[in-house]
Amino acid sequence: MKPFKSLFLALALLAPVLHAAKTAEYPQYRAFLQARGEASWIRAGADHPLANSAFRPIPPSESFPSDPAKSRLGTSLFHEPLLSADGTVVCSSCHHGRAGGADRRPLSVGIGGALGGRNSPTIFNAAFNFRQFWDGRAFDLAEQALGPITNPLEMGHDLDIVLKRLSKDPYYARQFALVYPDGITAANLGDALAQHTKNMTLTDSAFNLHLSDHTNALGEQAMRGWRRFEALGCSSCHNGINLGGNSYQLASTSGFDRGIADEGLFARSGREQDRQVLRVPSLHNVAITPPYFHDGSVGTLEEAVRQMGILYAGRDLQEQDVADVVAFLETLTAQSGRGMHGMGGMQGMRGMQGMGGMQGTGGMHGGHGGSGRGMHAGRHQHGGPGQAHGPHRHTESPHAGSEHGSH
Ligand code: HEC
Ligand code: HEC
Repeated sequence: MKPFKSLFLALALLAPVLHAAKTAEYPQYRAFLQARGEASWIRAGADHPLANSAFRPIPPSESFPSDPAKSRLGTSLFHEPLLSADGTVVCSSCHHGRAGGADRRPLSVGIGGALGGRNSPTIFNAAFNFRQFWDGRAFDLAEQALGPITNPLEMGHDLDIVLKRLSKDPYYARQFALVYPDGITAANLGDALAQHTKNMTLTDSAFNLHLSDHTNALGEQAMRGWRRFEALGCSSCHNGINLGGNSYQLASTSGFDRGIADEGLFARSGREQDRQVLRVPSLHNVAITPPYFHDGSVGTLEEAVRQMGILYAGRDLQEQDVADVVAFLETLTAQSGRGMHGMGGMQGMRGMQGMGGMQGTGGMHGGHGGSGRGMHAGRHQHGGPGQAHGPHRHTESPHAGSEHGSH
């Protein structure tokens, strides 16, 4: 008895040491664990009427107020060619209102026509993802926002140069000084862009109305699809506010003609078990953001559902089930996100100050951003502190922003 006891004791004492040794092998992972990226404005109290439900309505905007002045600044930055090395790419080139907050391409195209490695996710409702990016490598929107600026396949810029250029621009110099005591810094740039993204929340989908107003907003087929979605176990991963966006899962493609092109969370954490692990994507507005999956390899929602059935529900779905589930997924499309042509369609979105910017930059068509010169001219005409500088003027000429030429 005694030797057992001491062995047990020794093991118990050793366990934390062994555990520490294990995490010490992965300094990146330790840093990752210690970070806190949860969006603090999401109130998910146990007294919520849907606390026991797999799904939550998108929180009303009052529960996660954003600072209007910062958000306005973020909106300008979201359409600012100066953030890209050659002045041809803006955030909205790849996250476009008329393309459901994404870009309708299998893989995104950055400066100089550079082909990225992943499909552009919608920016709509991204605020409710617990981590950002397909592999969830960014803790929050502010960290995420600096990623594309320096990504050589996206905006390909140098952050220090970006900050210098922003400081030299009278509009940004003044606006940053007005809303951030320490002016233009990388953290403030990320924060302003995050405030803008926070506002890219669409709440007027039939499904969200169904959850939030308890109205019977779904048709018969969609209701059947919803039940199927739950019965098949889809909601074990696609649940919560975003029907996804709140867990990591091992992504599998076995049996399909598409490889996992990247390492998944492993690239950030350095842990073997994180290879090919992705953050589950949100399904809001999924019907208007083809093509599908991290590699944009699947063109239709039907095929995406079919593959998910095989990969994660372990079965070939009947045609009727596919059609029903798709009908359900279509109820996740915000009315304000559908065929967003101009400002008229944007009413369901918070903070109308963001709207002007959602009217094309031409970026989604030619992979080029808007006109830097035109935007600057527009801004400088508008004056005073705190004043909205209104819808940006975008010309269709892709290289007009040559003032910010390449370097
Ligand atoms: C060249 C195209 C391109 C540009 C420009 C671009 N993005 Fe993205 N964006 C993407 C792609 C592709 C991803 C997914 C990348 C990944 O997962 O590694 C992404 C991911 C995101 C996400 C995370 C969404 C989610 O569900 O995880 C947000 C938010 C976002 N971008 C905002 C921005 C902002 C803000 C800018 C401007 C500073 C910007 N993007 C510029 C293509 C682009
Ligand atoms: C084990 C977790 C899990 C389950 C269960 C699951 N999914 Fe997914 N789903 C994922 C992951 C991870 C991805 C991203 C896969 C990729 O990009 O390769 C995804 C992607 C999707 C997409 C594409 C989203 C986009 O924007 O590209 C759809 C649609 C989808 N799932 C629907 C379903 C349906 C319908 C079911 C039930 C039959 C289901 N999922 C079950 C984890 C899951």
